[in-house]
Amino acid sequence: MPKKSTALAAKSLSVRAVSAQYLLQVLDKGQSLSTLLAEKNPVLKEQDLPLLQEICFGVCRVLPRLTQIIQQLVDKPLKGKTRLVHCLLLVGLYQLLYLRTPDHAVVDEMVKATQSLKLDSFKGLVNGVLRRFLREQANILEKVDKHWQTLHPEWLVNKLKEAYPNWREIIEANNQKPPMWLRVNVQHSNVDDYLALLQKADIDAVAGEHPQSIRLIQAKNVAQLPHFMEGWLTVQDLHAQWSARLLAPQNEEVILDACAAPGGKTTHILELAPQANVIALDVERHRLQRVEENLARMGQKALVICGDASQPEQWLSQIQQQFGESAVQFDRILLDAPCSATGVIRRHPDIKWLRKESDIAPLVALQKAILTALWQRLKPNGVLLYATCSLLPEENSAQITDFLQHHPEAELMPLPFPEQTQAGHQFFPQENGGDGFYYAKLVKKAD
Ligand SMILES: C[S@@+](CC[C@H](N)C(=O)[O-])C[C@H]1O[C@@H](n2cnc3c(N)ncnc32)[C@H](O)[C@@H]1O
Repeated sequence: MPKKSTALAAKSLSVRAVSAQYLLQVLDKGQSLSTLLAEKNPVLKEQDLPLLQEICFGVCRVLPRLTQIIQQLVDKPLKGKTRLVHCLLLVGLYQLLYLRTPDHAVVDEMVKATQSLKLDSFKGLVNGVLRRFLREQANILEKVDKHWQTLHPEWLVNKLKEAYPNWREIIEANNQKPPMWLRVNVQHSNVDDYLALLQKADIDAVAGEHPQSIRLIQAKNVAQLPHFMEGWLTVQDLHAQWSARLLAPQNEEVILDACAAPGGKTTHILELAPQANVIALDVERHRLQRVEENLARMGQKALVICGDASQPEQWLSQIQQQFGESAVQFDRILLDAPCSATGVIRRHPDIKWLRKESDIAPLVALQKAILTALWQRLKPNGVLLYATCSLLPEENSAQITDFLQHHPEAELMPLPFPEQTQAGHQFFPQENGGDGFYYAKLVKKAD
């Protein structure tokens, strides 16, 4: 039996009702949880958000297990208009199995949530199903947990199996809750000094393998972290922190961060090279707002442009206006490419249900188009760092191998990690470690 989380206990009824609504949006309308959670919900208060997140992320993490339990308890599948009732049952079962809320409170509140969603005629069903689960729990779980469950869609399991002998380990890591990592801004502090500040604030933390990284033993609200608002740190995964280090930006260079939003890597580039001329480009205008906010918090400046990285001719003139004629060829390019995000499933478990196998080929084509277009804008001897938060070889090592075959002037640079047989370096998600991430560093040979 999985352990119950200590963090969250009983809260107001509307959090449960909203959780069910959000889950319906994710599962039936293909909306991402991060997008839903980022929007202000008029029904909820600030203090409701941790429970809302815990329930929504938690249900997505263990969805097949909860679905199988419902199948044991409900005669006919809840389809069409009754899908919201199905989601209410998911929310109820998740609390009974994984949270510390007393059982009777969960049942009562789920019945009230059913009523508040104007599903009065299903109050009896929700009450009956949850109570029957409590009575027959041992029997039901014996059947449901008989075999090891991947809690992943079959197509993704097959892809991981095909690519990696350690696929089971990867899947287990994807099903964990991720740690919270901080990146200490070298312009303000260092890991040892900041760890001392955290200790003073009674916050347990340890240093990571990356020279700027700190792992919090328990996740915290950023408002509790000393000097967060003054730009002393950034919340960023351990393995994502290698991007700017591997790019190795230098002051005065013209550097393109090609898929920049929300700007976690743009600010890192400017921490390491504060005098670099950095361009933060992204195709999603609303996401660029976050880049601006992050730059402002860090006290940094970059040229922020909305544009399609695969069509440089559409936005290069804006760079020329700012930095002059010569700036249309870059010294360095960070291409943190749009990808399947299969390496960050533990942070975004809804990806397991939103991403479809048919999404992968178009993503691979987009990555190739962006890589090919930007390569032409790199100076001789310039460096391009290709990065994804994917675990799939077609987006990573196979993409780069194909690129190298078609671009003899491109040379793959060694990376400071243990040797791998494939091109570039693949990080896997690790308990108490970083997310799944891929890097390949290319240099453009001068003739
Ligand atoms: C992995 S995220 C980038 C994360 C970011 N580098 C960071 O560290 O904060 C990928 C980004 O690519 C952007 N994107 C997708 N297609 C793009 C395109 N054709 N041109 C530019 N940006 C694109 C998305 O809007 C998204 O913000």
